[in-house]
Amino acid sequence: MLKKVAILANGGDVSGFNAVIRAIIKTAENKNIECYGFIDGYRGLLKNDIIKLGTSSKDNAVGILPKGGSIIGSSTNANVFHYPVEENGQTVYKDLSDKCVQNIKDDEIDCLFTLGGDATQKSARDLSLKGINVIGVPKTIDNDVACTEITFGYNTAVSVAADAIDRLHSTGETHHRIMVLEVMGRYAGWIALESAIAGGADVALIPEIPFDIHSAARKIINRKNRGKSFSIVVVSEGAKPLGGDIQIRGMRNNGEGVDNIKLGGIGEVVAKQLEELTGLEARCTVLGYMQRGGSPTAFDRVLSTKYGAKAMSLALEEKFNVLTVIKDGKLNYVPLEDVVGNNKVIGAVSGNTAESNIRKIKMDDELVKTARDIGINLGD
Ligand code: F6P
Repeated sequence: MLKKVAILANGGDVSGFNAVIRAIIKTAENKNIECYGFIDGYRGLLKNDIIKLGTSSKDNAVGILPKGGSIIGSSTNANVFHYPVEENGQTVYKDLSDKCVQNIKDDEIDCLFTLGGDATQKSARDLSLKGINVIGVPKTIDNDVACTEITFGYNTAVSVAADAIDRLHSTGETHHRIMVLEVMGRYAGWIALESAIAGGADVALIPEIPFDIHSAARKIINRKNRGKSFSIVVVSEGAKPLGGDIQIRGMRNNGEGVDNIKLGGIGEVVAKQLEELTGLEARCTVLGYMQRGGSPTAFDRVLSTKYGAKAMSLALEEKFNVLTVIKDGKLNYVPLEDVVGNNKVIGAVSGNTAESNIRKIKMDDELVKTARDIGINLGD
């Protein structure tokens, strides 16, 4: 019999975190199960920084469905299996996962819900191997979590990008310019491709297709020859030229062994090259964190609510160590083991490393076909 459950939100924030949290709490409350939250993801679990969550009128989880961010915070650098500790003035990395296991036991938590992307679910799988009951919920604007067709937060990011493309259309058309929009997505081009289709862009450059800038330039010149003296180009932050490298804006400090690369800069490079090749003026806009903040779309509110309610229902059925997923358009679940994929070693850090099991766009995906059918140039 479940008595107490806890939620942690981990990784970069997305719109929809709170909607999932709310759905878990409400489903738990309906079954008289107490719900708690660890503050700031795995870091809060390690410090046992825990609060009770509730949706009654004076509780902390009231009115949170449309709110961006996460009422229980999130952490992007808290791998408890490889945690930075200061020792003799030096940073050393230690496996502190046993402390987390002890905290969960001391708090008498019967199931831990882990809201996060591939790195979060990797740690969740590793905790499950230490005897903790875990249920994951797939989050990320990048839409690259393995085994699910969609992650919560992604639809909002695409909507923000599509809105940006709409706005770039009018200014681009007025000034006869090439308007380049750089969007997030890391090593998967979902946001770029889907927003390009939603916004009616002319070119979409994605990490899955190393691009030939001459191909994109030809598309723009063809448009110019047909009297269309402006073009919209969407570039994924992880896109790279044929035979070239991704653009790196800097490094982040998310711990040892994780992907610490801050992607960015490819939009400016593409804008400059297109300007030279087409003779048209080009401008670049980097959309950045706008894609992660603010209120979730109605689609994301529904998806997040479905995911949260499903996660709690799975807990009630004692189906642990799984990830809630959408498969063939329907709610389902898969073992965390499948999500982790070939990254088997306990404690090995995930998060878009070579070992991580992320879902990229396949060339037979219908989005690719649709884009090609309507003449969106994919840089090949
Ligand atoms: O994974 C989500 C994401 O927003 C990526 O699209 C982006 O590359 C990265 O996080 C940015 O991370 P940070 O919050 O560390 O700057």
